[in-house]
Amino acid sequence: MLPNWYHNMLACHACTLRATCSGVVGGDGPTPATYMLIGEAPGAEEDKSVIPFTGRAGSELDYFLSLAVIERSEVFVTNSARCFPPSSRHPRTPKPNEVATCRQWLLKELEWVQPKVVILLGAIAINNMLPGTKLTQHGVPYWQEGIAYVPMYHP
Ligand code: URA
Repeated sequence: MLPNWYHNMLACHACTLRATCSGVVGGDGPTPATYMLIGEAPGAEEDKSVIPFTGRAGSELDYFLSLAVIERSEVFVTNSARCFPPSSRHPRTPKPNEVATCRQWLLKELEWVQPKVVILLGAIAINNMLPGTKLTQHGVPYWQEGIAYVPMYHP
């Protein structure tokens, strides 16, 4: 069953992105889950399906998860921003204020999912969860409150 705050998240209008996107794309996957994966923001495909990582980036993600022998169904997948940033020709990345406004929902998801490993896909997710950390290498975990945060490239 979805917690009450999840319904509030789906109704969120805290930033201007909600005015132009089709719907809020909430995190998706089992709870609790060992693995949680945080991306950037929904793309045009995810804006239609309202499920994170269902477009081309999702296919890439599934491929890389299969190399690590991790089933997508074992992973809770979410984003730093939950609404599709409008694009004219190229998708744009979410702005710092959009990510900051959406962080409240990400923190609630983290608490809900209780992950042991959080995979951070790309600079937006890395800066969101490991602010001020000088990265030495992708793939090397940073430990915070017993959780391994693993910076990775965005697919
Ligand atoms: N789709 C998502 O849901 N997130 C990304 O970061 C990219 C594509």
